[in-house]
Amino acid sequence: MAAWENIFWTDSVLLFLMVVLCSPVCVEVPSGTDAVKGENMTLLCISCMKREEVAATTNVRWFYQPEDGQEILIYEYDGKPLESKSPLQGRLQWTGSKDLQDVSITILNVTTNDSGLFTCYVNRTLHFEAHRHLTQSKKSITLKVTEEAGEDFTSVLSEIMMYFLLAFLTFWLLVEVVYCYRKISKAEEVTQESVTDYLAIPSENKENCSVPVEE
Ligand SMILES: *[C@@H]1O[C@H](CO)[C@@H](O)[C@H](O)[C@H]1NC(C)=O
Ligand SMILES: *[C@@H]1O[C@H](CO)[C@@H](O)[C@H](O)[C@H]1NC(C)=O
Ligand SMILES: *[C@@H]1O[C@H](CO)[C@@H](O)[C@H](O)[C@H]1NC(C)=O
Ligand SMILES: *[C@@H]1O[C@H](CO)[C@@H](O)[C@H](O)[C@H]1NC(C)=O
Repeated sequence: MAAWENIFWTDSVLLFLMVVLCSPVCVEVPSGTDAVKGENMTLLCISCMKREEVAATTNVRWFYQPEDGQEILIYEYDGKPLESKSPLQGRLQWTGSKDLQDVSITILNVTTNDSGLFTCYVNRTLHFEAHRHLTQSKKSITLKVTEEAGEDFTSVLSEIMMYFLLAFLTFWLLVEVVYCYRKISKAEEVTQESVTDYLAIPSENKENCSVPVEE
């Protein structure tokens, strides 16, 4: 009986870990800053909600400042996406998410003239029962446009390194989860034994992780 409880409890912990690791979590990833002429470039702007369960209204404004010019409004989201009159007009596309945590835009067919500073301003009003709470955030992206994609040796090398790192991290995470699982199940076992003195398992078994504990 106790062993079944054991299994149930440790499985719950593992399941909880899995849910935490696998559930979609909003992460404020910074945008890329290197665009290639003639291609599409997504200007990433992610503004995570601290309280996802609370209803919210989100307003967004995107500004562009050329290298030697003034800041101009290029895009607005106020209930719906709206392009403003600007040198980029006709080449901007809303690529934000439905919940407006991601409020990115994409520049289609990038030109060498698009280099400069892009800034997104996000105003979010949280509608609590008794009051409203306004949060403001701002992200800046210094866009650099190059004529062609530089597939040079160092970028290939860094890509390979990235995949190695990714593989290693995945492996490490797996080892960590298994280690936690064993540690928790062992700790639970020891506690239960000391409390009820019920499990008559020889102590060598408890020390040895590779021997599965059966009923
Ligand atoms: C850029 O985006 C447009 C519209 O989504 C698409 O039709 C086009 O194929 C894209 N171009 C490139 C180079 O990805
Ligand atoms: C956010 O609120 C401030 C102050 O009310 C206002 O000046 C600004 O234009 C707003 N920005 C957006 C993106 O709506
Ligand atoms: C992209 O822009 C260039 C110059 O502005 C233009 O010649 C070309 O036709 C455009 N390409 C597309 C796919 O819109
Ligand atoms: C870039 O800007 C210059 C000066 O404002 C203009 O003469 C030129 O036509 C622009 N080029 C493109 C591809 O929009």
